[in-house]
Amino acid sequence: MHYPVMAEEAISLLAIRPEGVYLDATAGLGGHTALIARRLTTGIAISNDRDAESLEMARGATAAWAERVRFHQGPFSRIADAVAEAGFRKVDGLLADLGVSRYQLTAPERGFSFLTDGPLDMRMDRSTGMTAAELVNHTAEKALADLIFELGEERRARKVARALVRARPIRSTLHLADVVERAVPRTGRLHPATKTFMALRLAVNDEPGELDSLLETGPELLAGGGRMVVISFMSLDDRKVKVRFRELARDGRVDILTRRPLQPSEEEVGNNPASRSAKLRALEMKQ
Ligand SMILES: C[S@@+](CC[C@H](N)C(=O)[O-])C[C@H]1O[C@@H](n2cnc3c(N)ncnc32)[C@H](O)[C@@H]1O
Repeated sequence: MHYPVMAEEAISLLAIRPEGVYLDATAGLGGHTALIARRLTTGIAISNDRDAESLEMARGATAAWAERVRFHQGPFSRIADAVAEAGFRKVDGLLADLGVSRYQLTAPERGFSFLTDGPLDMRMDRSTGMTAAELVNHTAEKALADLIFELGEERRARKVARALVRARPIRSTLHLADVVERAVPRTGRLHPATKTFMALRLAVNDEPGELDSLLETGPELLAGGGRMVVISFMSLDDRKVKVRFRELARDGRVDILTRRPLQPSEEEVGNNPASRSAKLRALEMKQ
């Protein structure tokens, strides 16, 4: 069963008009796109993801509303193309549900998880860019340590980087998890490789740069009265969203609809524990 995170809150804040144009920047498994598309009559949902496999799943999940959905493969840094290629200049709403999907996390061949063995890939778009294996096997030790420290907030990054460099070539997800576990013992609840995996994933997909791009371009794509809803799962991401939204509000261009970020209900967290760290922020472009 796929539960789109904070679906009710997101859909209600998008204030969908049946004849409007909506951009789901993160199609994933198509959960949110389906909820948007079913509310449209003559309107269009543009469903974007940089991951081709995810787009195919989203296509399946939204087949009942196929005539109202246009798909686009691309990163946030090319999100304007998704709108232009669907034949529009502006949208009435934009939704971004950041991070990776359950499918990406649990498919061993995608290499995002150390729960099962798989190739060390981690690219959301498998047609381009450097894999996590190329990154760990070819980055200088100091640069690797900095990356794990900064993106993974891993205090023991130097030890981790040294162990990884000594164990090269790192061949798979479990190999990497094993090397990290030997280098830094478990302290709390988290597996010792959790932060290293997070850092590599963020670096491989340039997630920080991509979010900056989305926060820059997204508001430009909104028509007057259009709304933008962002769901993030990491405090660094939520902070960026907050800062950018406040900047736009200070410039008098938008109204912020969520003074504090919304969080999932206890019931949702009970049904879908992965939603527990979600924070949702929304704004409305002035007329
Ligand atoms: C949490 S999932 C979205 C789940 C979706 N809302 C649903 O209901 O099924 C995030 C999706 O965003 C995509 N994504 C993440 N960063 C992206 C980026 N910079 N550009 C385009 N897609 C991105 C991922 O490939 C993933 O499929």
